[in-house]
Amino acid sequence: MKKLIAGNWKMNGSWAETRNLTENILKAIEAESGLADKCDFAIFPPYLYIGVAKEVLTEADSPLVYGAQDCALNGNGAYTGDVSAAMLRDFGCEYVILGHSERRQYHGETDDVVKKKAAMAHAEGLKTIICIGETESERAAGLEKRVVGTQLSGSMPESATIMNTVIAYEPVWAIGTGKTATPADVKDMHGFIREKLQERIEIAKNMRILYGGSMKPGNAAELLATPNVDGGLIGGASLDAGQFLAIAKAA
Ligand code: PGA
Repeated sequence: MKKLIAGNWKMNGSWAETRNLTENILKAIEAESGLADKCDFAIFPPYLYIGVAKEVLTEADSPLVYGAQDCALNGNGAYTGDVSAAMLRDFGCEYVILGHSERRQYHGETDDVVKKKAAMAHAEGLKTIICIGETESERAAGLEKRVVGTQLSGSMPESATIMNTVIAYEPVWAIGTGKTATPADVKDMHGFIREKLQERIEIAKNMRILYGGSMKPGNAAELLATPNVDGGLIGGASLDAGQFLAIAKAA
């Protein structure tokens, strides 16, 4: 399966920095012959700067696509401050990240909210990256599979297919902390997610499962070579074109 290398830029950057980073990543992908045949690439700037990425990525067959870090639960209407899935699609977004642990933690998003957002995104033709992952205390209590299994079945709508859905396993304790799950833990959890997927979708063996949480050039080769790891959702290291590309090359 072709790996997906996705950069979650979170709430970082400026207009100028977004332009530079997008241009640098695009140039680096194009300079590395054959890389775009081996990996798919997506970047997720903050809402306000998606337009900057759009300006840079004008080629219809660009090896780099862009998306948003969230979308509204509802369709267009009286929802002050929200951005709808329809608007994102209209703006050329290919993907939307949903249920990131920072959304769950700071905005109280539940599995049910994530599921409804994902159904809305699918209805508008967006692909979703649905994030799941346990906290440190849940892992310490031995609950990681129960938590991840519940999040997976609770967050994925009926509309999910291998074409429109990617799962990202991101242990909360590994995000932005420099701590990474061991390849053995990742293998175990990704295998568990793959098994859980079989219950829902016949073709589950082809749904991509990304790993996220302090993925860096130094640990990417090992993580990305782990069974059932079909790419990475990269935060901190995706803000540097060199590091982002080094991760892709490791894949
Ligand atoms: P990190 O973030 O790579 O900075 O740990 C990953 C994520 O939150 O998607």
